[in-house]
Amino acid sequence: MSRADGQLKIAVLISGRGSNMQAIANHAGGHCTGYKICLVAANKPAEGLSVASEAGLPTTLIDHKKYNSKKEHEAALAEAIEASGASWICLAGYMAVLSADFIARFEGKIINIHPSLLPEYKGLHTHDRALADKQKFHGVSVHLVTPVLDDGEVIAQMRMPVKNVDTLESLSARVLVLEHILYPLVIGALASGAVTLDTGQVHWQDTSITNTLSLPEDTTLIFG
Ligand code: GRF
Repeated sequence: MSRADGQLKIAVLISGRGSNMQAIANHAGGHCTGYKICLVAANKPAEGLSVASEAGLPTTLIDHKKYNSKKEHEAALAEAIEASGASWICLAGYMAVLSADFIARFEGKIINIHPSLLPEYKGLHTHDRALADKQKFHGVSVHLVTPVLDDGEVIAQMRMPVKNVDTLESLSARVLVLEHILYPLVIGALASGAVTLDTGQVHWQDTSITNTLSLPEDTTLIFG
């Protein structure tokens, strides 16, 4: 695992507003120390790139429309990530499915945040589906990325009750609050060695990092 200045170097991949990227950046100096964002990359013009630039983070737009094939686009993306010195890749609303070749190039070093309690609701529209199914609980997962979409080992989850009065807006807003707590926490745990991922298996060595965490009411943190 390569570290600079004693810090885990991460690349964050986005496609949109980048609120998770911002939460990761905000916590880099807070209770989840030990990591540093060395690149924010987007595959299309994304609001989050300006947010990252304003925060003084290195950014790059590797626009998929400017490449003849997915293979060429991913090669450019991989080169930018390697040049940044990142040893981990954090997908944060990156709206493209990575190829098996790309994932193999960074094997065991790519994680993603997904707005559901995996394995429930892989793919899109997770909040609508949870509401339609009248689920009692919903939440968010951070998981290892494998070639099968949203299928890699879960590292940690946050679960909360769905309220009778919940709408798509209220539910997605409450899940987003959890996302912004969970993602920096997991990256901080990877940086400190509190969690290790050994050939695709998650091992929590130390869960005490959560002792000082204040979670929204009725929220449960689940270690993978
Ligand atoms: C989040 O809900 C994340 O879980 C999903 O895409 C959304 C990205 O939001 N993968 P943001 O760009 O981080 O605000």
